[in-house]
Amino acid sequence: MTAQELRRLYIDFFVSRNHKEIASASLIPENDPSVLFTTAGMHPLVPYLLGEKHPSGQRLVDHQKCLRTGDIDAVGDASHLTFFEMMGNWSLGDYFKKESITMSHEFLTQELGIPQDKISVTVFAGDESAERDEESADVWRSLGYPDERIYYFGKKENWWGPAGITGPCGPDTEIFFDTGKEKCSENCNPACSCGKYVEIWNNVFMQYNKDTDGNYTLLVQKNVDTGLGLERVLAIMNDAASVFDTELFVPIISKIEELTGVKYEESVYHQYRVVADHLRASTFILGDDKGIAPGNVDQGYVLRRLIRRAYRYLVQMEAPTGTLSQIAQVIIDHYKDVYPELGRNEKFIIDNLDKEDALFGKTLAKGLKIATKFMDAVGEDKVLKPEDAFMLYDTYGFPLEFTQELAEEKGIAVDAAGFNKLFEAHQEKSRQGAAQKFKGGLADNSEETTKLHTATHLLNAALRKVLGDDVYQRGSNITPDRLRFDFSFDRKMTPEEIAEVEQIVNDVITAGIDVVCEEMSPEEAKAQGAIGVFTDKYGELVKVYTVGDYTKEICGGPHAGNTADLGSFKIQKESSSSSGVRRIKAVIGK
Ligand code: SER
Repeated sequence: MTAQELRRLYIDFFVSRNHKEIASASLIPENDPSVLFTTAGMHPLVPYLLGEKHPSGQRLVDHQKCLRTGDIDAVGDASHLTFFEMMGNWSLGDYFKKESITMSHEFLTQELGIPQDKISVTVFAGDESAERDEESADVWRSLGYPDERIYYFGKKENWWGPAGITGPCGPDTEIFFDTGKEKCSENCNPACSCGKYVEIWNNVFMQYNKDTDGNYTLLVQKNVDTGLGLERVLAIMNDAASVFDTELFVPIISKIEELTGVKYEESVYHQYRVVADHLRASTFILGDDKGIAPGNVDQGYVLRRLIRRAYRYLVQMEAPTGTLSQIAQVIIDHYKDVYPELGRNEKFIIDNLDKEDALFGKTLAKGLKIATKFMDAVGEDKVLKPEDAFMLYDTYGFPLEFTQELAEEKGIAVDAAGFNKLFEAHQEKSRQGAAQKFKGGLADNSEETTKLHTATHLLNAALRKVLGDDVYQRGSNITPDRLRFDFSFDRKMTPEEIAEVEQIVNDVITAGIDVVCEEMSPEEAKAQGAIGVFTDKYGELVKVYTVGDYTKEICGGPHAGNTADLGSFKIQKESSSSSGVRRIKAVIGK
């Protein structure tokens, strides 16, 4: 079975059960600062899980590009990836546990033909925030699953979400494939990481919203949010030993073999898999229409880390320079029919990888010199100071194992425990920074973020009026305190232009115009002159938000009811974001 056959089987199965297929959204969440990347198929659907009406109805299905950096250390085993495709189906206030579980069971056992005795499931054991999920367990029993393959776990295993700090969440039931490996111990169960059980599907019963104070409140509707891992299921369907032995990775691995001359075998699985996984993830980040390039903050930083980690393993395998982009080319060629943005952004992907290749080539050489200096200075105990190892990590991108290998060649040990302490302190610092930074967001649907969202539309229209129609949105990020808007424009705005944009937005606010939402086909939206991201999924309806004859934009919402709700509008800063992209920060109501 090919990946595309699997995608279609899944979509068709749910379409025949009255779901509407929707397009895969960007890997970079729109308007939502609570996470850097789309980590699950539910992410673009947050407003609808919270109660907004979706133009395609209450039953949806798709395959979504996802990225999770939390699994980065597990990459190298048979099933973990940073970038992956999630097949998902949703009920927005429509069906619930019984139908959802039954459809999952039918898809796996009838459509894919996976033997039922290879499947184990887990359900929520209950705690103070929600009751024990006997309802799901009963459905599994009624479908013929014996008690010994139905496991009960607490919040850690069987509760999903919110994806960021706030948002929809709930108990889940997870579906595991038994690989047939021996149990690692008497207590081995689906929560064990030994590799016997591989999680393939997660059905979340989203009926709670977690707010900024950490309280769970009931949502206006009961939703189902499921996610089925494409790569993992593909491996199962093809009896592949790991996700890396499927058609999605074999061409990448062959290319690495060709470029390095190192044979792909167990002793180098780890290096190979990290390179293949990280470059696939990097290609998809660079290939997204948002134009994210390697950098020192946010998505750009994650991208740089992925590329450098891949690079250093390639250097270990003595790959020549220019290898990164050659591997990416294989990935682009493989995926561009399904994800056309990779074709559209091919040059951007290749150029950025070549740049990073040259840049890190230099940093790496410098770092190696510093490392030698540090190592020549060790005391009689022949142990490298943890501060030195951490400096090499932090400044030159040397992971601990890399430094350990260098040290070993000189008969020197590295204080790994000391390093880990520094590393954890550093992580904790960035976690706190991130938590601070990611407070709120459109995911919380608060009044402030909703109003700022409307202000973003007004700003977009004003910029186009003042600077010309070539201006278009490149990114948007909203916190309860301010909006941030990135747009294509290749020079600094003059103070007069900034004042004019502000004036236009304030005039529309003073005029007190209603914000009107309509649903229509993308063709109709286009004909009416709406701007925004057009989907190419046939038959899909979109929401169009209109403010008088001032702005018309395709958008999921939600928005303020009337422009007067915004109070007033002020641009605080206009600066460069990246080459050809400017960034505005603005506030309202002051
Ligand atoms: N949101 C759930 C998950 O990511 C189901 O898709 O596992």
